[in-house]
Amino acid sequence: MKNSIPNAAKISPTDFVIFGGGGDLSIRKIIPALFWRFVDKQIDSQSNIIICLHKKTELETILNLIKPHTFNSIYLSKTLQNNWKNFHKLLSLITLDLVTGEGINDLILLLNKNLKKKQICIFYLAISSNLFETTCNLIRKSKLNFTHSRVVVEKPIGFNKQSAIEINENLYKTFKEEQIYRIDHYLGKETVQNLMALRFANTFFENQWDNKNIENVQITVAEEIGVADRISYYNEYGAIRDMVQNHLLQLLCLVAMEPPSYFDANQVRDEKLRILKSLRSLSDSDIQTGQYQGYENEFGKPTNTETFIALQVGIDNWRWAGVPFYLRTGKKLSTRASEIIITFKNKPHNIFSKLKDFDKNNDKPNMLIIRVQPNEGLRLKLTSKEPGPGGMRFFPSELNLSFNETFVERLPDAYERLLMDVARGNQTLFMRLDEVLAAWDFIDPIVDKVQSNPPQLYRSGTMGPEDKILIRNNHEWIDPKE
Ligand code: BG6
Repeated sequence: MKNSIPNAAKISPTDFVIFGGGGDLSIRKIIPALFWRFVDKQIDSQSNIIICLHKKTELETILNLIKPHTFNSIYLSKTLQNNWKNFHKLLSLITLDLVTGEGINDLILLLNKNLKKKQICIFYLAISSNLFETTCNLIRKSKLNFTHSRVVVEKPIGFNKQSAIEINENLYKTFKEEQIYRIDHYLGKETVQNLMALRFANTFFENQWDNKNIENVQITVAEEIGVADRISYYNEYGAIRDMVQNHLLQLLCLVAMEPPSYFDANQVRDEKLRILKSLRSLSDSDIQTGQYQGYENEFGKPTNTETFIALQVGIDNWRWAGVPFYLRTGKKLSTRASEIIITFKNKPHNIFSKLKDFDKNNDKPNMLIIRVQPNEGLRLKLTSKEPGPGGMRFFPSELNLSFNETFVERLPDAYERLLMDVARGNQTLFMRLDEVLAAWDFIDPIVDKVQSNPPQLYRSGTMGPEDKILIRNNHEWIDPKE
């Protein structure tokens, strides 16, 4: 059992400026992530966290909002309590109107000295994308865009390819591509990174990783929650833009990409891009959408927005020709679980089939289950002989590697890793513009098809509408276990 995170590489002093600092993302993810990196001494007391708020707010109020999202045990351990108190010293609040620019002088005052010393400054745009342009203009006009400044933007970048191009043109007026970090937080999840280790730090699986050995790949990102107070955003985007365009396609790329020559930002992203460009266009029958019952009541009027989507995707290259990649995601499903399941082809011939007590139910193909969350880990499903006398009796067994139990008491949140990568200037786990645009090239025609077919209703607490896609190939969804 490996019980602690090895000394995390310390970052040089950095100024983190969070626009939209009082918003949900900042409160639930960004500031707690910075707190944990401070606890692990990766961030030291010379760094600053500047929280830009629309309305004047007391620090105490912000801290009370953040507390429940850090860790309950803050109050249990003396060390964590001290860390929490010391962490407050890094925080400054600024009231800033991004549209009129009122309050910008306070930010300039806080940043100027450090920027001139070439201290890294990270502008996190935790705001709606229609404020990106004004905010970037404000940064530029206030002369805060030094070459060592970086900007972080969240997915989805745009609403379709055209709007993604416009957003990026606006970013480019202030920042260069090397300064832009487009976050897809799925890439910061431990198991997602482990997928690359599994494939490229071992030979065992890579030899099996193709259409000769793999029957199908399933990627499920199931959520128990609904859309709650994000409904006006969600109703415009739907599951296809909110989840598939980014998170699910990124997972698909990591499963399917060729090994890059080196684990280097551009090489990894070149390989992912090749996959995105090899995705075959889908027909209507490759797409199934659903909407949970009661969604229209939450929205207040009839709407065709999908809260569930399933797709059969094909990759047109030698390695994957003929292998279906099934993707599905949905809200208000029976469980919160994200899994990638690789089902291998079954044996060409079963030498045990003529045994008297041969049980067909145990004649199952091998499966590799990569559990992204929760209870992160890997399971390899095998068939084994039951020990003891009584002939060749088989049972399904599993090789099980639970990262949760094996490695650390607490797995760092994706934002912790990603924010430290921004500070170190490592873009490997961030999306390059050409990737984003290639993803939209694939998604835009699907959106048109989704919008022309009303979604099927499904009951909350189920795994969505009854399958219409996999059944065509005699496959079936494998639902995540608790
Ligand atoms: C976000 C989506 O990007 O990811 C949300 O906008 C979704 O709708 C969330 O709930 C899921 O993230 P996670 O890390 O909880 O799986």
